[in-house]
Amino acid sequence: MTTLMDHLDELEKNHNEEEPKEIGMVISRKEPTHLAFNFRVDDDVDVEVGELVEVPSEKGAIVGKVSEIKIHNEYLSNPKFLDNELLSEIPVHYRFNIKRGRLRLAKVKILGIVTGGNNFIPPCLPPEPGAQVYKATEEVLSASLGIVPNGLYLGNMWVNNMKITLDAMTLLMHHIIVLGATGTGKSHFCQVLTEEFLDRHIPVLIIDPHGEYSSLAKPNTKMMKELSKIGLRPEGYKVMEYAPPKLIRENEKKIPLTIKLTDLDPEALAEICNMTDVQTDLLYLAFKRMLKERGEEATLDDLHLAVDKIAHEYKFLPATTLAIMRRLAVLEELGILGEGFSPQDMIKPATATIINLSGDMEERARRVLVATVLKKIFEARKREEIPPLLVIVDEGHRFAPQDEETYSKKILRLIAREGRKFKIGLCIASQRVVGLDKDIFSQCGTKVIFKLDCTTDLNFIQPLLESTSKEELQRLPLLPRGVAVISSICLRFPVLMKVRVRKSGG
Ligand SMILES: Nc1ncnc2c1ncn2[C@@H]1O[C@H](COP(=O)(O)OP(=O)(O)OP(=O)(O)O)[C@@H](O)[C@H]1O
Ligand SMILES: [Mg+2]
Repeated sequence: MTTLMDHLDELEKNHNEEEPKEIGMVISRKEPTHLAFNFRVDDDVDVEVGELVEVPSEKGAIVGKVSEIKIHNEYLSNPKFLDNELLSEIPVHYRFNIKRGRLRLAKVKILGIVTGGNNFIPPCLPPEPGAQVYKATEEVLSASLGIVPNGLYLGNMWVNNMKITLDAMTLLMHHIIVLGATGTGKSHFCQVLTEEFLDRHIPVLIIDPHGEYSSLAKPNTKMMKELSKIGLRPEGYKVMEYAPPKLIRENEKKIPLTIKLTDLDPEALAEICNMTDVQTDLLYLAFKRMLKERGEEATLDDLHLAVDKIAHEYKFLPATTLAIMRRLAVLEELGILGEGFSPQDMIKPATATIINLSGDMEERARRVLVATVLKKIFEARKREEIPPLLVIVDEGHRFAPQDEETYSKKILRLIAREGRKFKIGLCIASQRVVGLDKDIFSQCGTKVIFKLDCTTDLNFIQPLLESTSKEELQRLPLLPRGVAVISSICLRFPVLMKVRVRKSGG
């Protein structure tokens, strides 16, 4: 039972939480400007680099980010003091409180000013020397970052611990890229993102090359405590899992995923069969003839017949025809051609549709299968036959490699470029920073970058993260698992985010 004292304690705690915490005073050893200032950090307060602070002014709260902290000690920088110290046998801290000579100076980069009504304006005013500096309150933080209430809850700011909640539709329409070394938390982030979209009834289609997303169906009961600390509960989601028929084992409840021959583009067909230019020409003409004569119901047999006819009409060499026939036979062996699928059956509100591609399968076939599914989904969305959705492509470099022209890359570029118009969002995750198509990267309005320690990757990423500060980039190689720099069209400036625990899984 709660007593009155408990209640008063709680009230006092809440009251204290709302009060801005004083942490220092603006000094003018180097004059404050509208862009930067220094402050002396009070004794016994903790301030970290990256932390957001505020200083009251006549226009509103000047908000800035701590970019550097220096500690000076007048005793320990005094040569006489140090000489005496060396001569003495007893360590200095036993004889004397050297902390009395300690001075901590924090350098702050000003981000802007939160004026009345929670408007945020660019920096235009220096703080007064002597003014008190406070830890930024949640209200000032959300106003300056542009956090929306009821947005997708993806994690907390690493230093100020405030919840990062972003607008679902803005995120969806401007695409997301998730990068980082292996094991740093990319797939975990994609799963958190999926949970948040599903909570808003927005369907999510997941290309899952490692088969790690099916745990979305189970509530994460192992993390009850951690979840309740952030006001969440374990939850399982509606999941439909598809896989190519040859990769489904007995007793598995996956839905067989096949594509109809007529859903394939001749370009995709040529890629899957690894054809030469001449073979591709013959196939292209034959495919067109097949569609003309047999329409949507055409089968591989019809294609064989069309290849024969076209070879004869256009006098292709018999060796070319034979090679095509052989490759079409290999295609049949792959087992991905069949009745096809219906986008309306595949995409349902509040449901995660997983395309599980784990297992032994030729990479070319995997790519073409993904591209054909995505193209059909994109076209269905254009005709508004399915609701707006998010498409997650894990291990994105396999489908959109930088140094190879694949059909899957063409389709992913198309969605990245045009998805916005039709409310189909893309989230691409990859550990291969340099190996992922740059065009797709540049189309993504939200970039989530986990730990990266390879110099080539860091050099590559620096110019692409134009608004991210140097300090944040320098910290990339040192980030722990689950912490990322997030730079987004939904946020006014990039911050370090600790991704939240999952509600599903376990
Ligand atoms: N924010 C987090 N909170 C708790 N656990 C996490 C978090 N992020 C990642 N993990 C755990 O760390 C492990 C690795 O994460 P994950 O599989 O997401 O890494 P990844 O970057 O996708 O790796 P890979 O490149 O190998 O695919 C998983 O067991 C995951 O549950
Ligand atoms: Mg992963």
